[in-house]
Amino acid sequence: MINKKVEEILNAQINKEFYSAYLYLAMSAHFDEIGLKGFSHWTKVQAREEVDHGMILFDYIIERDGNVDLKQIEAPQYNFGEPLEIFEQIFRHECSVTESIECVASMSEEECDMATRHFINWYIQEQVEEEASVDDIIKKMKMFGQDKSILYHIDIELGKREYSQHKYS
Ligand code: FEO
Repeated sequence: MINKKVEEILNAQINKEFYSAYLYLAMSAHFDEIGLKGFSHWTKVQAREEVDHGMILFDYIIERDGNVDLKQIEAPQYNFGEPLEIFEQIFRHECSVTESIECVASMSEEECDMATRHFINWYIQEQVEEEASVDDIIKKMKMFGQDKSILYHIDIELGKREYSQHKYS
């Protein structure tokens, strides 16, 4: 049986993961609209990964005999500008997700729920990878400034991202 405070924070995290999927989908639609198909593809793949993150939490709560409590998902808040600005928003968003994952880790420790503390390590590692990959893209865009031909090449590169279902391991 799962600790109630931990169950609550895990349910809140499910909502954040599905909100992230919404946010990435909104970005994907925007990139498609302005003709950046690779950027659109990359953010759409990211949205699918966010759904996986939510579903792993969903399955975990059920496995621990807890109650899944799905709340309303907010419409994404965004102010889309240049691709670089959007990726900076992504970076800030992922940093805030990292903070909320760390809160899950700290709550599990406070409540002596070592199973959840161990489970959440997968998310901590996932956040390290997500922040690093977004930071790489930002650095490339910054390095080449306003050079549109470089943006074209980055678009091609981002279009190669492959989706593979994220599973807890
Ligand atoms: Fe599921 Fe991008 O954090």
